[in-house]
Amino acid sequence: MGTAAAIAPGLRAQGNPRPDPGAATREQRMRWWHEAKFGMFIHWGLYSVIGQHEWAMEIEGVPIPQYEILAQHFKPKPNAARDWARLAKRAGQKYMVMTTKHHEGFCNFDTKLTNYCATKQGPGRDLVREFVEAARAEGLRVGFYYSLMDWHHPDGARCAHDEAARKRFVEYTHGLIRELMSNYGKIDILWYDVDWPLTPEQWESERMNQMVFELQPEIIVNNRNGLPGDFSTPEQHIQASEAGRAWETCMTLNDSWGFQRGDDAWKTPKTIARNLATCARGGGNYLLNIGPKPDGSVPEESVRILEKVGDWLSTNGKAIYGTERGKFSFGTFAEYTRRGNTLYVHVFYWPSHTPAAEWLSFYQPETVVAIGGLKAKVRAARLLKTGAAVKYEQSDIGVRFTGLPNDAPDDPMTVIEVECDSEPSVDHNAIRPEWKRYKVGTRNS
Ligand code: GLC
Repeated sequence: MGTAAAIAPGLRAQGNPRPDPGAATREQRMRWWHEAKFGMFIHWGLYSVIGQHEWAMEIEGVPIPQYEILAQHFKPKPNAARDWARLAKRAGQKYMVMTTKHHEGFCNFDTKLTNYCATKQGPGRDLVREFVEAARAEGLRVGFYYSLMDWHHPDGARCAHDEAARKRFVEYTHGLIRELMSNYGKIDILWYDVDWPLTPEQWESERMNQMVFELQPEIIVNNRNGLPGDFSTPEQHIQASEAGRAWETCMTLNDSWGFQRGDDAWKTPKTIARNLATCARGGGNYLLNIGPKPDGSVPEESVRILEKVGDWLSTNGKAIYGTERGKFSFGTFAEYTRRGNTLYVHVFYWPSHTPAAEWLSFYQPETVVAIGGLKAKVRAARLLKTGAAVKYEQSDIGVRFTGLPNDAPDDPMTVIEVECDSEPSVDHNAIRPEWKRYKVGTRNS
């Protein structure tokens, strides 16, 4: 790994009292990540054996000695991570982030610091190493999730009011992170989680990040060790940060992070593709979770949904990867992304003909996709699915794409690629200014 000399000195951003390790190299370190847009999150651990979500130990009040028994019964099939990595690749995901240690305290990796780890318990091998190798074999970037909160460690809660316990626990925590940052080659993301019960000062989070950047000068870190880090982490909802601040929405495919046998609340491929476009509109990433079964296999529904999204991305990836944050008010039937002067209109609900559409010349001829408030001049348009040119008529109010097929050309969304003469923005409030008594919201951004 690189040397300390390669790291930017801790910089004090204006108005920010904290040093910001990595600030000087942030843009360069995050270039691939901004381009990537879509990642796979993997929640896998002892909780997977029970199949009742990853908070079972705490929420269901399982005594520690009872819960520990699971460690001997966690016996995944070899190299399950290869299937995850192949699935991520087919889904069009560019990076993977796996739980190395969740709140339950069990380490999925080999460590000298505790026996409560994969090599010394049921699995008998280093599951994190298998994950790293599998992701690399598919050309995917590698991320480690790490929970600071630890329900198993004797000092995990005591550290809040016992200074000796805090010192021990912080040393343990920094030690585990050091191992993760030292033993697996180049790691692309460190995804901290839950910093309860300590403050960043008590966790010694600045020192933690300094160590991480010393060992991994190219790494990207999130904001869940109490410091701003490189990116924000809205959870289960899409919320763009202020311009200039990187963000990533993490979300489950059903309602659970860890494997939950009874959870059938699966999102549709359309919802996933749409969420991905919504994230891209606001310049954010989408980290979508799978919760493998105890043997490591991925629930069939997750596979089905991800493969469908991957099919869609194989023709529509241009409308997602490498797109830039844009100025768009939301549409109820479409989402917008852009790269430079090219606008991508993601149509969720294809406006096939109805008798009403026949009565209004506005909706003629044939199927029309209309966008009010487009602020750029259209030069050309085409369907990403077929490459077919799309006719258009532009007025002061907006643009009408005409002569489209009656049935949606693509599934789950059809994308129209629109070349403009300048950076396209869409402002529905600009359509009829005198109607500004209410404001069309900017959904999630
Ligand atoms: C929350 C949950 C945790 C999950 C994480 C993912 O912090 O406690 O179970 O791993 O969100 O973002």
